[in-house]
Amino acid sequence: MQSTDSAVPAVDYSRVFNQAIDRLHAEGRYRVFIDILRNKGMFPNARCFAGHNGPKPITVWCSNDYLAMGQHPKVVAAMEEALHDVGAGSGGTRNIGGNTHYHIELEHELADLHGKEGALLFTSGYVSNEATLSTLAKIMPGCIIYSDELNHASMIAGIRNAGCEKRVFRHNDLAHLEELLAADDPSVPKLIAFESVYSMDADIAPIAEICDLADKYNALTYLDEVHAVGMYGARGGGISEREDVAHRLTIIEGTLGKAFGVMGGYITADQVIIDVIRSYAPGFIFTTSLSPVLVAGALASVKHLKASRAERDGQQAAAEQLKALMADAGLPVMQSTTHIVPLMVGDPVKAKKISDVLLAEYGVYVQPINYPTVPRGTERLRFTPGPAHNEAMMRELVDALVEIWGRLELRRAA
Ligand SMILES: Cc1ncc(COP(=O)(O)O)c(C=O)c1O
Repeated sequence: MQSTDSAVPAVDYSRVFNQAIDRLHAEGRYRVFIDILRNKGMFPNARCFAGHNGPKPITVWCSNDYLAMGQHPKVVAAMEEALHDVGAGSGGTRNIGGNTHYHIELEHELADLHGKEGALLFTSGYVSNEATLSTLAKIMPGCIIYSDELNHASMIAGIRNAGCEKRVFRHNDLAHLEELLAADDPSVPKLIAFESVYSMDADIAPIAEICDLADKYNALTYLDEVHAVGMYGARGGGISEREDVAHRLTIIEGTLGKAFGVMGGYITADQVIIDVIRSYAPGFIFTTSLSPVLVAGALASVKHLKASRAERDGQQAAAEQLKALMADAGLPVMQSTTHIVPLMVGDPVKAKKISDVLLAEYGVYVQPINYPTVPRGTERLRFTPGPAHNEAMMRELVDALVEIWGRLELRRAA
């Protein structure tokens, strides 16, 4: 790759790109994607194709299909039925041919899940955050967004693209948030953006207290419930349902790709806000709508999890059991009040090494989590046990980790 005009200095593009990749290798955070196929009906078992002669059986420990809904018979059947009824894709944007009956029904179902007037589907949770936050702030001139410092990259992208003033408050720190709110002009529009379950540290935001501050300073609230929808609350409406505060939040955002086991994202809010985002957000308007097959699967999943808590209970029990087994074995499992089990390593090279050994020698698949997903020096392994991970699998995993911890002389729990 070279500039063709000899009159201007040649830029060595290959060198620039190769240096960018070399930097990642040097820091030990070059990402390798593992090539797998999950076995329907047998999650968390899967086949791994990386570096083997043919598929090798593995156990997946890092999927965000927390409740194994991706293989649920109702979800699979609904997708098959939709595929055979209406074909593969939606064929257009929502405005131009892609507004199917499935989309409309799922939006009703999601609005009902969160007790809101309306809902809007996006192609992913990432897009829903980026599109909504960037558009909202543009609709409200002078708007200031208050953002938790650990907010997901998609919220940060939305806030940046909004081009508005932003204030970053220390993670879950109410006093800091209030200090920032109080320092600003009371008459300008304000929006507090935060998550319920922070999936890397596995902690939960003080939602009611943040709503109190929003009331006091006349701010709107935007809650990302991506890691909580389907998982918490009597009907899977998330932490805001569990804590009975959904009605206090202006916008609740979620994904269909994690506990619901399919793909897509959404927001729920008052109808007028839904109408504004539907009408102004480029990330909603200018893209082909989700395949009706995906929407049909998500619809079946949301409906099922509204009525059934067996999956949620099974997942919570598995998470508690794994945390206890790890702690008993002296592994540095991070304190967590949620369904996620993070094991601190604190070094990107070691985290990758543990993950490699687990896969190659024990058939255990857990991806190392490194910067920028988590701050440097807090690299970790993040386990997501589900209702289908049984005790034997957990004991095998913990025995393998103990052996590797000893072999690599890693730090044990204090
Ligand atoms: C907090 C949070 N919000 C949004 C997203 C994006 O959701 P999706 O995977 O549906 O794009 C993620 C994905 O990991 C997330 O962790």
